[in-house]
Amino acid sequence: MELLKQRILKDGQVLGNDILKVDSFLNHQMDVQLFNEMGKEFFRLFAHKNVTKILTIESSGIGIACIAAQYFNVPVVFAKKTEAKNLDSDTYLAEVFSFTKGKTYSVRVSQKYINPNDIVLIIDDFLANGKAALGLADIVGQAGAQVAGIGIAIEKGFQDGGKLLREKGLEVQSLAIVQSMQNGKISFSE
Ligand code: G4P
Ligand code: NA
Ligand code: NA
Repeated sequence: MELLKQRILKDGQVLGNDILKVDSFLNHQMDVQLFNEMGKEFFRLFAHKNVTKILTIESSGIGIACIAAQYFNVPVVFAKKTEAKNLDSDTYLAEVFSFTKGKTYSVRVSQKYINPNDIVLIIDDFLANGKAALGLADIVGQAGAQVAGIGIAIEKGFQDGGKLLREKGLEVQSLAIVQSMQNGKISFSE
């Protein structure tokens, strides 16, 4: 998606060789007009899948998922990373290993909010090693529901997540795929 790529080039900051900071428009301050264009694009890519629900993970996926949901006209469910007291005891649970943080954490979704007849679009802000998306797909499977696909804002093509998910037969659509960030220079792949 050209608009997103241009914005990454304009406002993205490369940290080291593998972290892209997009705090000014995507995961701290949020450019809602940009999110709106991204939501439209996700709808164009997945409209034919008869999506009944969007699933994301707190926190940075939520804003993007909510704006996209207005085009699909479906609810958004976000997986929780903390075991909150007010979360139902009947939950689907997946373990996610974060390479960035070097530890495993649990994500949970109440069993009430995904049903066997749901067709679920998974949305997230970043795709790095793919473990978060894999955990969400696993939860959809536990519910007996179907994964429509995975919509990602920014995929880091030099990490393994995209390959891992596509090899599992999941349709991954990323609005921008960063191919490399060597020496602070960002390049995209088609
Ligand atoms: P994975 O799910 O693809 O395996 O990724 P990983 O564990 O490595 O990522 C951990 C967190 O860091 C995730 O956010 C992910 O979205 C984010 N992340 C990964 N690479 C980048 C990057 O290059 N830039 C930025 N800005 N974020 C990146 P999270 O822990 O789930 O936190 P939240 O921000 O959604 O709350
Ligand atoms: Na995220
Ligand atoms: Na994040």
